Amino acid sequence: MESSSLISFSLIFCFILFSLASNGVEARRPPSISYLISEGLFDSIFLHKDDNACPARNFYTYESFVQATKCFPKFGNTGNLATRKREIAAFLAQISHETTGGWATAPDGPYAWGLCFKEEVRPQSNYCDSTNKQWPCYPGKSYKGRGPIQLSWNYNYGPAGKALGFDGLRNPQIVANNSLIAFKTALWFWMTEQKPKPSCHDVMVGKYVPTEADLAANRTAGYGLVTNIINGGLECGIANDGRVNDRIGYFQRYAQLFNVDTGPNLDCENQKSF
Ligand SMILES: *[C@@H]1O[C@H](CO)[C@@H](O)[C@H](O)[C@H]1NC(C)=O
Ligand SMILES: *[C@@H]1O[C@H](CO)[C@@H](O)[C@H](O)[C@H]1NC(C)=O
Repeated sequence: MESSSLISFSLIFCFILFSLASNGVEARRPPSISYLISEGLFDSIFLHKDDNACPARNFYTYESFVQATKCFPKFGNTGNLATRKREIAAFLAQISHETTGGWATAPDGPYAWGLCFKEEVRPQSNYCDSTNKQWPCYPGKSYKGRGPIQLSWNYNYGPAGKALGFDGLRNPQIVANNSLIAFKTALWFWMTEQKPKPSCHDVMVGKYVPTEADLAANRTAGYGLVTNIINGGLECGIANDGRVNDRIGYFQRYAQLFNVDTGPNLDCENQKSF
């Protein structure tokens, strides 16, 4: 983990914002994300998240999402209008794939079912990497997928908690129990560079500069590279992968709702993972 300066910056910024807000001081604040994504647009994107069929019904609220973005002022707030909309659409598409309850013939189509799950239902393990001494697992705790990005593994729960002000190693369950923290973990993952991977944010706003190794691996900027950052080890470099196609399908639907183009390189089938 080499992003400690970024972590402490976002932590401090988040706290400053909150203390300014509670003191009633009007600071030079970034514009609220609600300018680009109204509650109506959010609801039309996530048509079924509060259905009875969804275990996460009533958990992922618009208010929590908007509130969480205030800790990450560059999110959806970098570049021109199209870039800003495209980044938000890409983020919402990726978290939708991670939490989908959709299926091919689902009502309103498979891409209307994001944010249906808040935690992994049948985890294959506790996702404890015991070789990681910096973020040691706490006995009996599971670091399975939770929240919009399905945060997984002790080495993600530890630093996410440190950045956001909760004990990710002792209390990982909070990510499935507190909607604000849940959205913050997804945004933390999106905004934070974890070398050798760039951040998803930098890729979507055109700040990614590929290394020689990236070029040799076909890791060119675009939504497909974001998929590679999130789960490339399992999904990229495979022709016509169903999971990758699902991520793309969400993005295409959401980009249309935002009235923005998707940009190039949607797929990662020709990319090597990091
Ligand atoms: C959420 O918190 C409640 C009460 O503190 C607890 O009973 C429940 O098990 C928690 N849920 C999860 C998913 O951790
Ligand atoms: C890069 O992509 C091309 C097709 O565009 C493919 O032929 C080549 O094998 C890819 N290289 C790697 C390293 O995957």
